[in-house]
Amino acid sequence: MKDSPTLWWDAAACSIRYIEQTLLPDEERIAECRTVERWATAIRRLEVRGAPALGVAGAYGVALAAATCSEEDLSGFMNAVRRDAATLRATRPTAINLAWGIDRVLARIGRERDIAGVRRAAVGEADAIAREDTACCHAIGEYGAGLLPDSCTVLTHCNAGALACSSWGTALGVIRSAIVAGKDVRVIACETRPLLQGARLTAWELARDGIPVTVITDSMAAHVMRTRKIDAFIVGADRITRDAVFNKIGTYMHAICARHHGIPFYVAAPLSTFDPENLADGVIIEERGREEVATIGGRTFVPEAAGVMNFGFDATPMELVSAVITDKGVREPPLDIPALLSRSTAK
Ligand code: MRU
Repeated sequence: MKDSPTLWWDAAACSIRYIEQTLLPDEERIAECRTVERWATAIRRLEVRGAPALGVAGAYGVALAAATCSEEDLSGFMNAVRRDAATLRATRPTAINLAWGIDRVLARIGRERDIAGVRRAAVGEADAIAREDTACCHAIGEYGAGLLPDSCTVLTHCNAGALACSSWGTALGVIRSAIVAGKDVRVIACETRPLLQGARLTAWELARDGIPVTVITDSMAAHVMRTRKIDAFIVGADRITRDAVFNKIGTYMHAICARHHGIPFYVAAPLSTFDPENLADGVIIEERGREEVATIGGRTFVPEAAGVMNFGFDATPMELVSAVITDKGVREPPLDIPALLSRSTAK
């Protein structure tokens, strides 16, 4: 099974290389980014996306800011890097990993005494975040695989695969690890309107690995849960508070349907996705442009006089979640997030 990176630092070119996800599945292109402004645009356009990958993207974004900054005295240099970091942080507000990755690199470079040291430390810390994310995904995969029957059908929404992480994936990592462990897993992927991460990305990566995958429209999910044997619903997360799981818009309605049909609803996420500070009401849900809902393939389907709502994410109340599969093990709600995070840093 393929376990190649979604984004990485090109040390020779001082740039970020990444799989340009808006082009998939038609074209698999490795793009290159050389400026913070362009990287902010790439993140906003979802050329790179998915919460754990956004953590890595934020981290490499700070490395790029340091690599391209022309200030010559350390304090001016650090101020410029922090300004760029703020620009990157503002690109996508819901996925907490983005701010987490940025803050981790900023904290690390704050200890350096000269510009060359800052540049080196930024890349080193971002590389470490990328490596750790891959290790977290494999741990999540192994813990989660134990929850699946030997032969099963799993429903998923959006893309929580290798493309949404440094590699391997969270929800799809569970499926990959179960298959590596010898289980027979079939996947039904909800298409995930409006940007089709399920149809374009989940189906592409699973098909590439030879994992059986069938795509349905989002509105077919309840019917499929009622009429087929579905063993589990597994999704990733953009942020987990004590009371809710934030994930791609549509997740909440799937969780309600899964509960109604007695299907376990699992969330797979690394600890970098947990938010110990907020409850659901304190989290900003990203709202995106009208054109993503109103147009398909360049043609407009919504009359101009009609309004459009385009929420990127929703909050699934924790009582609908059967268990959260983390890199430190499987946890059933209620979650004690501060304890979970402090145990991980105390290791
Ligand atoms: O808007 P996107 O494509 O970045 O949204 C991604 C999701 O909602 C994923 O399910 C989530 O980030 C988990 S990825 C492991």
